[in-house]
Amino acid sequence: MEEQKILCVGLVCLDIINVVNKFPEEDTDSRCLSQRWQRGGNASNSCTVLSLLGAPCSFMGSLSAGPVADFIMADFSRHAIDVSTVVWQVEGQTPCACCVVCPPSGSRTVVLCDTNLPDVTVEDFSKVNLRQFKWIHWEGRNAEEQVKMIQQVVMYNSTLPREHKITISVEIEKTREPLYQLFPHGDVVFVSKDVARHFGFHSAEAALKGLYSRVKQGAVLICAWAEEGAGALGPDGRLVHSDAFSPETLVDTLGAGDTFNAAVIYTLSKGGSLTDALTFGCRVAGRKCGFHGYDGIRETLTDDSWKMNP
Ligand code: ADP
Ligand code: FRU
Repeated sequence: MEEQKILCVGLVCLDIINVVNKFPEEDTDSRCLSQRWQRGGNASNSCTVLSLLGAPCSFMGSLSAGPVADFIMADFSRHAIDVSTVVWQVEGQTPCACCVVCPPSGSRTVVLCDTNLPDVTVEDFSKVNLRQFKWIHWEGRNAEEQVKMIQQVVMYNSTLPREHKITISVEIEKTREPLYQLFPHGDVVFVSKDVARHFGFHSAEAALKGLYSRVKQGAVLICAWAEEGAGALGPDGRLVHSDAFSPETLVDTLGAGDTFNAAVIYTLSKGGSLTDALTFGCRVAGRKCGFHGYDGIRETLTDDSWKMNP
């Protein structure tokens, strides 16, 4: 039997990345240090990282046929990410983001055009053969529809013994009211620093304690906080923390959060502890900040002093 995969549901887009040594002033005309096209989107980036870590994975999200989708599909294929669950829309454009990455400050600024491509629906999701998956991760987007997808998995799980149930994780990253309905639907819930701040919390620990009542019984809530690392709170009420692992030189923080989520999911899906998962998440994400893009993760895996065996 083939190893069960991890499915990530959410955005894929084209990132046009400009690397600059100083963030441009408005209404000026400047040159960047370098420019590249990269497949982006939180769920898509997390698939990249999972695949580089050696975990078989699938991506589910919308695309619209054309040159941008061709570029994206070629990159999925290069990373051995299964795309059989991609939904081809007949209307709308594949989203595209203009990104400015500034190594001296570590900032990454994104302007995303994500306007008219329909999102994946529960009807699309109902066609997916759930048997192939051990974990499904939702990047919060069309939350109302995503809750219905999760309910299908809960129904499916109810027919299975504990060890065969699909683990459900959700990411609540953007400060949009409808996304907060996802809190009670994940076994593992990732909440961002932005959302935590929006609720008035000034640290991961405060956010975890303050938001834990929103998750379902038995769930784990996780909150990453950039250079301050990440924290988690599980049903035993014990706060777990990992410091960040700073790279020698800060280069590219775009997708650090998606990298962190993937490395945490990777560890937990292999039966690792919450402490191992947070530490591994921060290690991989910290390393990632030291090079452009994600492919460097593959090289760092050969460094045994860094690789952990969850
Ligand atoms: P994002 O803004 O991409 O969603 P976060 O800022 O929440 O991501 O960071 C996710 C994880 O990435 C952090 O927990 C940390 O481990 C790592 N990380 C992010 N920025 C840095 C940094 N400047 N130095 C080291 N690690 C970082
Ligand atoms: C990084 C990212 C980029 C994308 C943007 C969308 O986390 O997924 O790849 O352009 O966020 O919000």
